Amino acid sequence: MSTKQITILKGDGIGPEVVHEAMKVLDAIATKFDHDFHFDEQLIGAVAIDKTGDPLPAATLQSAKHSDAVLLGAIGDPKYDNDPSATVRPEQGLLRIRKELGLYANVRPLRIFPSLKHLSVLKPEQLDGVDLIIFRELTGGIYFGEKTKSTNTASDLCLYHRFEIERIAKLAFESALIRRKKLCLIDKANVLESSRLWRKVVQEMAGDYPDVELSYLFIDNAAMQMILNPAQFDVILTSNMFGDIISDEASVLGGSLGLLPSSSAGKSARLYEPVHGSYPQAAGKNIANPIATILSVEMMLRDFGLIEEADLLLSAVDACVAEGKLTADLINDNSLSCSQMGEAIAAKIMS
Ligand code: IPM
Ligand code: MG
Repeated sequence: MSTKQITILKGDGIGPEVVHEAMKVLDAIATKFDHDFHFDEQLIGAVAIDKTGDPLPAATLQSAKHSDAVLLGAIGDPKYDNDPSATVRPEQGLLRIRKELGLYANVRPLRIFPSLKHLSVLKPEQLDGVDLIIFRELTGGIYFGEKTKSTNTASDLCLYHRFEIERIAKLAFESALIRRKKLCLIDKANVLESSRLWRKVVQEMAGDYPDVELSYLFIDNAAMQMILNPAQFDVILTSNMFGDIISDEASVLGGSLGLLPSSSAGKSARLYEPVHGSYPQAAGKNIANPIATILSVEMMLRDFGLIEEADLLLSAVDACVAEGKLTADLINDNSLSCSQMGEAIAAKIMS
């Protein structure tokens, strides 16, 4: 039996609905395996601004720092998106919690559900052999560099230190070793000085991993290759901004953005969140797909060392999908609601 403290950050838009289902699944795992998962719900994002004026209230950060894991739904509200003058923004909450928890490695695996291949934007045969994982640097680069702004100019600095590249590259090389032993660094080294530092550091480290085949792609070509031949990728390593973009692109290959989980690792508690955003148009309608969040819980269980539990969760998701138990983003007729999807997966776990 294990006891875990989990900070729950439902956030904005569909966040509360998908996280609610993921909590159901955690409860099912706890009951089945006799674990104690304690949930501490806290505010983040636009809802936190509405209630406290701060997208990351001190109580939220405090809870996250003292927990074993953080489960996050989504952040963002359209009322801020088209208001460039807003100085307090929901996304600041997410960026700050990543920085404060030192979550430098965002890990985004893409696996394809065989029964959903027909929903992909690609032809089903182009998905054969697609199984990739993206290591996106998460606390550096253009997201966190110095920002300047005056009436008619603005700039965002893309600064990387060697140590920031080394620590995530190490995780990516190690992942490659237990996968298909291929690592692709995605950058823009033909133009950017910061990308040339990435290449230099990663090249130097490659000597310690002779079994890993290292390759490089410029981000523009990589964006094209992701569509033309995604099966060529095993482990992708990239900076914050390029990782943000390429992971959204990769996420739709499997048929829906609603399927892709992520974990962010750093110095302390890890954070788990779906790759998708707050999808405000669907908020409160009970139609969102909770699978990305539920698979983020799978990553959490695995990191807890609860392997049997993670395997069971994964097989429950696979079984539901294979049986055609699907939300409206994946099927037109007889779709399940968000809560029915969560219940179906929880029931499979208990059966
Ligand atoms: C993501 C999101 C965030 C990011 C936003 C909401 C700040 O797009 O997690 O990919 O850009 O990192
Ligand atoms: Mg993104």
